[in-house]
Amino acid sequence: MATIPFDPLMDTMQLPTPRLQGNLTLEAALKKRHSTREYLPDALTLEQVSALLWAGFGVNRPGSWGRTAPTTCDTQEIIVYAILSEGAWRYDAREHRLLRVGTGDLRALTGTQDFVPVAPLNLVYVVDQERMAAAGDIDPQEHGVFAGVDVGCIVENIYLYCAGAGLATVVRGQIDRRALGAALGLRPHQRVALAQSVGFARTTH
Ligand SMILES: Cc1cc2nc3c(=O)[nH]c(=O)nc-3n(C[C@H](O)[C@H](O)[C@H](O)COP(=O)(O)O)c2cc1C
Repeated sequence: MATIPFDPLMDTMQLPTPRLQGNLTLEAALKKRHSTREYLPDALTLEQVSALLWAGFGVNRPGSWGRTAPTTCDTQEIIVYAILSEGAWRYDAREHRLLRVGTGDLRALTGTQDFVPVAPLNLVYVVDQERMAAAGDIDPQEHGVFAGVDVGCIVENIYLYCAGAGLATVVRGQIDRRALGAALGLRPHQRVALAQSVGFARTTH
């Protein structure tokens, strides 16, 4: 696979069209799905990041802006951030591009476990509570539950994509949310839900 390096100077980074040709059936990927907590420091290519983000929460029905993961009343209230050694970006699914939100290596801020800054990519899932509230017919008491489920659907897409693509991953809740939210410039109605490390396993299963 050709390697397109990240350009740490770019504020907007167009992602290549994702190559959607996994070599595993969905059932085989389900059989392989597991969490990994030991990573090699090797970087992912831009093509790998592109396919991963598309699988996680990309647009799969451009006519209606439908996404690969369902969300409550199609609120699409989850914002996905990609934190790499080169910087921090927000995923713009409609344009399939990355928009810079931070410079420098913020990976260590995405979790409290030792392996977190070793994994080349850490995804951060942020719930935009205003967007959930804008869909007026959702009982506010249920917002937290629905947002959690919506994040979980993306998380599992990433797990299955990784299983099919030979990548390693683990979803994580152990995060200093205040520090990470500040580093990402989140607004008060935007809350860090979970993070997910992605990379290459140090040991193979
Ligand atoms: C909501 C949620 C939060 C999690 N938080 C962490 C975490 O902070 N750190 C971690 O190492 N694993 C975390 N995990 C991963 C679980 O520990 C893991 O899925 C579980 O042990 C089962 O292992 P498996 O994924 O290999 O089947 C989390 C999983 C979920 C669903």
